[in-house]
Amino acid sequence: MAIREKILRSHSTTRFTCRFSTAEEERGMNCNKRNKVSLPLVLVLVLDIALSLPAKISVLRYVAFMAQSSGKKLIKIDASIDTVCPWCFMGHKNMEKAINSSRDQYDFEIRWHSFFLNPSAPKVGVVKNEYYGNRFGRAQWKQMAARMGQLFRTHGLEYDTEGLTGNTLDSHRIIQLAGTQGRDKQNALVEEILVNYNVRGKYIGDRQMLIEAAEKAGVVGAAEMFEDENRGVKEVYEDIQKYSTNISGVPHFVINGIEVHGAQPPEVFLRAFQAAR
Ligand SMILES: *[C@@H]1O[C@H](CO)[C@@H](O)[C@H](O)[C@H]1NC(C)=O
Ligand SMILES: *[C@@H]1O[C@H](CO)[C@@H](O)[C@H](O)[C@H]1NC(C)=O
Repeated sequence: MAIREKILRSHSTTRFTCRFSTAEEERGMNCNKRNKVSLPLVLVLVLDIALSLPAKISVLRYVAFMAQSSGKKLIKIDASIDTVCPWCFMGHKNMEKAINSSRDQYDFEIRWHSFFLNPSAPKVGVVKNEYYGNRFGRAQWKQMAARMGQLFRTHGLEYDTEGLTGNTLDSHRIIQLAGTQGRDKQNALVEEILVNYNVRGKYIGDRQMLIEAAEKAGVVGAAEMFEDENRGVKEVYEDIQKYSTNISGVPHFVINGIEVHGAQPPEVFLRAFQAAR
């Protein structure tokens, strides 16, 4: 375990996170081992001699498929983000890049968790340039936005600074709702919301935008949820309580128990996949 941590540490570069007080923070990578959960996969198969030949062939195909897929290590990722945090977008993209390049070695199961950078952010949208300009000072914000722009361009995307920012509760309500309908759907929804806000300049509190993103991701019941101001709120706070209380900034990833903090480059995620048990 100590060696594994060392491997990850020795390759850590800088970490980039959004925090309560400052949106940009560079620090050494945090990589603590948490409790190890090992779930042995047991496959029991009974081949009935009474099966017809085509049935036997399909059973054998299934066995071959299972042998192939169970040979892969299962990587479980718990990812805590806030939807208005551009570092979270970068972390998400870097992780996705690492996942894309190692799908032949691993199976992935990602769960997205909520976090509030500013729980009392205004319900009415404020232009990003104004909001962050006031919060960090015009000159510093200009630098931060330029740096963000560079990083986004490494993924062929433009970072938007002209859209509206604001309260993220509704986006988290819908992301938690998606989590109850399947990992793939939740993942697709997170991607759609993050791109809408960070790249397309859409307002994070725009319920119509959120409902359309949900529809695109195949998530049902979003419009109905927003008809009741209380629905899905408790679930968000329970999720934060369970997964994000000890976190000081986002994005934060727990990969089979290994913590990766900040928008680390894809290589760091790959190393965590290798080290993860
Ligand atoms: C990962 O692969 C998917 C599917 O091919 C693609 O749409 C996506 O852009 C890739 N992501 C990155 C960060 O390369
Ligand atoms: C958070 O820290 C407290 C105190 O150290 C600990 O009891 C709790 O289990 C931690 N929660 C998580 C989710 O790690």
